[in-house]
Amino acid sequence: MTFRVLELFSGLGGWRYAFAGIGEVVAAYDISPTANATYALNHGVRPIARELASISSATLAAHGADCWALSPPCQPFCRMGHQHGLADPRAKAFLNLMAILPLAPPSYLVLENVIGFLGSEAHDLLATTLRQLSFHWNEYHLCPTQFGIPNQRPRVFIVASRQFRPAQIPPEEPAIALATYLDKREDPGLYLGLPTLAKHKPGLDLVTWDARRTACFIGGYGQRFVGSGSFLQTERGIRRFSPTEVARFMGLPSCFSFPKELGLEQRYKLLGNGLNIPVARWVVQTLSP
Ligand SMILES: C[S@@+](CC[C@H](N)C(=O)[O-])C[C@H]1O[C@@H](n2cnc3c(N)ncnc32)[C@H](O)[C@@H]1O
Repeated sequence: MTFRVLELFSGLGGWRYAFAGIGEVVAAYDISPTANATYALNHGVRPIARELASISSATLAAHGADCWALSPPCQPFCRMGHQHGLADPRAKAFLNLMAILPLAPPSYLVLENVIGFLGSEAHDLLATTLRQLSFHWNEYHLCPTQFGIPNQRPRVFIVASRQFRPAQIPPEEPAIALATYLDKREDPGLYLGLPTLAKHKPGLDLVTWDARRTACFIGGYGQRFVGSGSFLQTERGIRRFSPTEVARFMGLPSCFSFPKELGLEQRYKLLGNGLNIPVARWVVQTLSP
């Protein structure tokens, strides 16, 4: 079976990686120029830079997709955001998609978001819309640590289809030490200077090479310290994980790269918005017969 996938809020193309060999992405949509440049570099095709808050059903239906894969902006539901839910202007695109979904519904829908999405008004709206369309769905609460990856990134995945599919049991593998995720050669520029350490060290999530856990890396990891992700303690000092190391935790392929012109902060931002690929891949496989 080959899914014809519409990748909405495509970012780096996490769903495209997750569907590799199982589904073909027929169109991807994102308004971010940096995300689209990175997507184009890695996937050889540029997403459509259209605002999803005003996209029409006919425009999406013209792609002939049978599966919607979406990761709407999570800030309205984030622990660190203001949690305005559907009143947040960043939820407008999700609201529009829920309004047009019944006009030309696909056969499958997969959605990823932060755990705060569960029980939110947005979650209620999605459930009501899916129920009206007679969809069946499973909800998975997954973290890369269950897949043996030493990185916390708890997320909810909604997997909906026209036919009933029994929920599958996710893996429970012990996480391995993070040493294998480290760059062979460190970038000295990632080390924090003394003034920064004097200010932020007490609040840092510090880990060493033999740790089996790192905290979730958020989009602001390049600028923030407390609650933004883990920092590595080495004999030399304390440093950020490099974007390449974060990309490894996310399960992106070793050939993944950023456009040269993107700075560190932009790279961390794109990664912090992204999907963990092995986790998303497992989710996609629950759709296969
Ligand atoms: C949580 S990220 C999705 C990341 C993606 N799943 C990945 O694998 O990298 C949300 C994405 O939605 C895009 N976005 C936010 N609001 C949008 C809108 N109104 N229309 C189109 N794209 C939007 C952002 O630029 C961002 O790349």
